[in-house]
Amino acid sequence: MYSSSLFRLAVAATAALAVHSHAARTADDDLDDTPLPLVIWHGLGDAFNTDGIKQVGALADAIHPGTFVYTIALGADANSDRQATFFGNVSAQIESVCEALAAHPILSTAPAVDAIGFSQGGQFLRGYVERCNFPPIRSLVTFGSQHNGISKFRDCGSTDWLCKGAMALLRFNTWSSTVQSRLVPAQYYRDPADYDSYLEHSNFLADINNERELKNTQYKENIAKLTNFVMYLFEDDTTAIPKESAWFSEVNGTEITPLRARKIYQEDWIGLRELDRKGGLKFRSITGEHMQITEQVLNETMIDFFGPFKRTFDSDAAYVDSTFESEL
Ligand SMILES: *[C@@H]1O[C@H](CO)[C@@H](O)[C@H](O)[C@H]1NC(C)=O
Ligand SMILES: *[C@@H]1O[C@H](CO)[C@@H](O)[C@H](O)[C@H]1NC(C)=O
Ligand SMILES: *[C@@H]1O[C@H](CO)[C@@H](O)[C@H](O)[C@H]1NC(C)=O
Repeated sequence: MYSSSLFRLAVAATAALAVHSHAARTADDDLDDTPLPLVIWHGLGDAFNTDGIKQVGALADAIHPGTFVYTIALGADANSDRQATFFGNVSAQIESVCEALAAHPILSTAPAVDAIGFSQGGQFLRGYVERCNFPPIRSLVTFGSQHNGISKFRDCGSTDWLCKGAMALLRFNTWSSTVQSRLVPAQYYRDPADYDSYLEHSNFLADINNERELKNTQYKENIAKLTNFVMYLFEDDTTAIPKESAWFSEVNGTEITPLRARKIYQEDWIGLRELDRKGGLKFRSITGEHMQITEQVLNETMIDFFGPFKRTFDSDAAYVDSTFESEL
């Protein structure tokens, strides 16, 4: 245990040095060393100003000093921001985030931004990339996000009345237009056993996953333009069901189809295949329950994928080539 954490720290230190010397080599001016801003979108039931979110921002600045951190908020205070994680039209929420980022004096003048999406915040940031992407995201990192939807609504804590109220409405009539336009988790509900209802009524996920006949080519172009799309899966996740959704796998009953064996990838509906070919699609897993993220994992993520605009990245392309057949 102890020696493995020492090893990881040593790896991290080497990577940091490599980044630094690269930046020094290519530096034309001071701007080359400035880390890209970091945009954070939190998850269901969370708020922009909780200690956990603040700690992530503080770590980003500790790893890459000078990082400007912007946490997405859909309300003026913590209560309304938290409420908006349960209630609202996700497309309208993304639209307002697009407007806020495009109008932000620091974000909109940066060459690009990096982003972390926690849980549902991850698929919403992906929606941001597909639908507007200005400022463009360079590295998109998602933790336990429901990229292929959820097939079960979560249990709420016994005293979480906001959550309980939302879930009761959801279960009552998932596919009604009222629920689809107002209850957030319903908009990424996707049960393969009831796929036709989903295709017909899903107000968000079926669209950004380009699952309908008419494909939006902009979505595909924008995802393919990412430098890194890093998807973390929590191995012991019992909150977001199925957990494999974090890797875009399809879970239909007991059958699990990995992304690379699915049509969405093989026909490249949203640019994931193109991104994978250039080595930008990364599958990572960590032990633990939904959103149990260690500081070490956050540090490694920030070292590997964030920092100055001009840094370089290790490519996973070789990994893709050698494992492509066996993954199928
Ligand atoms: C949700 O918001 C989008 C974007 O503002 C809007 O186009 C759409 O009509 C809304 N959907 C519903 C069902 O209200
Ligand atoms: C899921 O499996 C069922 C039963 O085999 C099948 O009817 C359905 O089409 C599958 N759904 C998808 C999206 O493939
Ligand atoms: C994460 O990085 C920060 C800043 O460099 C450091 O203070 C902290 O000890 C690191 N945590 C771990 C677990 O490596």
